[in-house]
Amino acid sequence: MAAFILGLLFFVTQSPPVPSWPADRSDARPSLSPPQADPLPLNDSSPSAHPNGTVQQLPGVIIIGVRKGGTRALIEMLSLHSAVAAAQNEVHFFDWESHFQRGLPWYLSQMPFSYPGQTTVEKTPAYFTSAKVPERVWRMNPDVKLLLILRDPTERVLSDYTQVYHNRLQKNKRMQPIESVLLQDGEINLGYRALNRSLYYVHIENWLRYFPLDSIHVVDGDQLIRDPLPEMQEVERFLELEPQINASNFYFNKTKGFYCLRDHGRERCLHDSKGRAHPRVDPSILQKLFRYFHEPNRKFFELVGRTFNWN
Ligand code: A3P
Repeated sequence: MAAFILGLLFFVTQSPPVPSWPADRSDARPSLSPPQADPLPLNDSSPSAHPNGTVQQLPGVIIIGVRKGGTRALIEMLSLHSAVAAAQNEVHFFDWESHFQRGLPWYLSQMPFSYPGQTTVEKTPAYFTSAKVPERVWRMNPDVKLLLILRDPTERVLSDYTQVYHNRLQKNKRMQPIESVLLQDGEINLGYRALNRSLYYVHIENWLRYFPLDSIHVVDGDQLIRDPLPEMQEVERFLELEPQINASNFYFNKTKGFYCLRDHGRERCLHDSKGRAHPRVDPSILQKLFRYFHEPNRKFFELVGRTFNWN
């Protein structure tokens, strides 16, 4: 008995507090250096209370990206749950220096008022691809839950291009045709930054240096478009929320070509800037993109221990 207790003690003291990984994926583990930075200070400034009993709370859940992955749809759908209070705007606290320098009290002041039992959620899609962000988020709260919504990397690039195209159009600026952005001398233009944002394994490695895989839930953005309910039910399970979101919360809007939301009888679709038509791309260029992303995708699947139905 004494030997058993001694053995147990030895095991407990020898087991390093490493994040949990998929059991059969140890080869995919990035080299970990234990996080060492100090927690971000909140300076005793207690959350500002509102007379109706609501308070501002730091987020317990952050939607970290990816840009054009379906982050707006995800936060709107999550807001259907009564235990969720979502920040309306993208806060850009951890990635913009001018915001980060204002400190956690400023971040807190950007959060919505919520009831004590509610969880606050914030989404800033640029967090996923910003290398300095994981450490900063970890310093705020190493137990925060992270949601990452991804789509087929090629589709995401086309969506990224379309967004920039429309932004420039609004400012009366011209935009190069998609072919000349994607290709240089007939080959994939590696200098096009939207491509880098679709190299998911590069970015997830940064997050896995700080957070265990079981703190990060990857939402399948292509599935969320096709059939949102099962994806949202998985999100509820991951966040340990009481199951509430149901089929009556969604209806397909033929004009928009996407699912829209029904909340206590009120129907609404996402803004027109969500669900835009993408430019037509020559199939031979698409093939080049699929080939370009093939190996990075495989690395990503290995890191998260899960595959996605991407080209
Ligand atoms: P496209 O406009 O290229 O189709 P984000 O909110 O991260 O910017 O992502 C925008 C993408 O969300 C849209 O890209 C769209 O495909 C996707 N999306 C997912 N569900 C949607 C929904 N129910 N309504 C509109 N867009 C949705």
